[in-house]
Amino acid sequence: MERESWKSRTGFLLAAVGSAIGLGNIWRFPYMAYKNGGGAFLIPYIVALFVCGIPILILEFAIGHKLRGSAPSVFERVKSGKKSTFQMLGWVGVTLAMFGIQVFYCVVIGWCVYYLVAGFGFVDISKISSGKFFGNLIGSGGFFDFNAPEVWLLLAIIVVWILNLFFVFKGVEKGLERANKIFMPLLAVIVVILMIRSFMLPGAMKGIKAYLIPKFDKLTDINVWKSAFSQIFFTLSLSFGIMIVYASYLPRRSKIKRSALQTALINCGFSFIVGFFVFAVIGYLAFVNGKPVDKVVTKSVGLAFVTFPTAIQKMGGLKNVFWILFFLCLLFAGLSSSLSLLEAFVSSVKDKFGSSREKTTIITVSVGFILSILFALKGAGINWLDAVDHAMNNYGLVLTGILNCVVLGWAYKAKVLRRHITVSDGIGIGKWWVVMVKYVTPSVLTVIFVWGLIFTFMKKSLTYVLVGWGWFLVMILAAFLLSRSKWKNTAALKLGHSFEDEDNPLPYS
Ligand code: PHE
Repeated sequence: MERESWKSRTGFLLAAVGSAIGLGNIWRFPYMAYKNGGGAFLIPYIVALFVCGIPILILEFAIGHKLRGSAPSVFERVKSGKKSTFQMLGWVGVTLAMFGIQVFYCVVIGWCVYYLVAGFGFVDISKISSGKFFGNLIGSGGFFDFNAPEVWLLLAIIVVWILNLFFVFKGVEKGLERANKIFMPLLAVIVVILMIRSFMLPGAMKGIKAYLIPKFDKLTDINVWKSAFSQIFFTLSLSFGIMIVYASYLPRRSKIKRSALQTALINCGFSFIVGFFVFAVIGYLAFVNGKPVDKVVTKSVGLAFVTFPTAIQKMGGLKNVFWILFFLCLLFAGLSSSLSLLEAFVSSVKDKFGSSREKTTIITVSVGFILSILFALKGAGINWLDAVDHAMNNYGLVLTGILNCVVLGWAYKAKVLRRHITVSDGIGIGKWWVVMVKYVTPSVLTVIFVWGLIFTFMKKSLTYVLVGWGWFLVMILAAFLLSRSKWKNTAALKLGHSFEDEDNPLPYS
């Protein structure tokens, strides 16, 4: 059986960047930087990037490329004998991606579609109150106030799922690669336009200063470090088997290390740049309202869906254009990431059960859509979204990340992968990488994980903790069941790229 592949290396890079650049870069990063010490936040962020982000990204690319499979398929082969235990880890990643993130991620993209359509003149955006507009979408109430969702929002969410279905259904080259080749360049153009426009607004400089002025005292707060590490995981789409499967579609000779560095730097650079226009606009809002900058920024969800729209409304001519461009930017960034979340799961099911891409995608999307309605319900939805998002960020990603390092670094052996990278790339990768993957990264992550747990239990309500953990445990159970059934498509377990000289001792090792 032939495995699908990217048409070009650029196609792969764009898809990896497309997965990495997502809603998180726009509504999370700037807000996080601002809240956690401005320019000083870049220190933990960059440390996290080099200590965890880049080493794990290289690790995922390398194993995906060498064994040419989705996460369950590569973990299954780490050690035969102890079979399903390792395989289950692969399933935990892709199940969390699909049913832990994708299900609410599509709702947030749905909000973007809803706002976008409003900007085309369906609503007079200069007259609405953004707070009320958003309040109407999410409703009010607690975890158990289940009220019917806004009908138009539901339609928007259906559109998002259909787009997901369409591109993943079409396969790697005709679907994923094509989508990213359209979305990524458009995204870049839009960001440049938004940036130029926002810099011309009065008060822009004030906002940018608030974003960047370093508050070094924040660096003593462990929460700031925890935020930086979980943000790196989320933003680089690590731990969930996404980068593994994307690398499995690469040709034999590929530049693994270089692609990982490029993906990471483009993604983080993008976040940093987006921060400028986001804060220029916030500075403008502060100027118009005659308030200090820190009085106009609300929570991160509010930033994109309340603060930003309010600022746009106050602009002069062409405000609809700015509004449309901003939500298009969120839409393109979000969609390209959601495709990767879906693909990670679909390809895993295909690899194991040998089902067709078309059928697998249709079934997965249907189940995902039904689950996502929960997050769109007025009242309850936003609470569930917040709790599940928090659980995924604080323990889902980090815990799977630790286990991935341990299994691939120790059981599979990082040095085997190091040789593979060297031969495939034609340039060696230093010993530092092996040390990182085996010792440094998992140790640092363990500290972060434990702290995340303590923090959650101290600060959050019991329902919040139970919903988050409950969701997480159900996913683990699903992963367990998926790993226990019989491996039908054994051909998928035989794929791989290897090189003759890979097993011989090389001069550098
Ligand atoms: N990286 C994407 C973002 O920043 C989200 C994402 C997370 C995608 C995890 C895939 C996996 O928004």
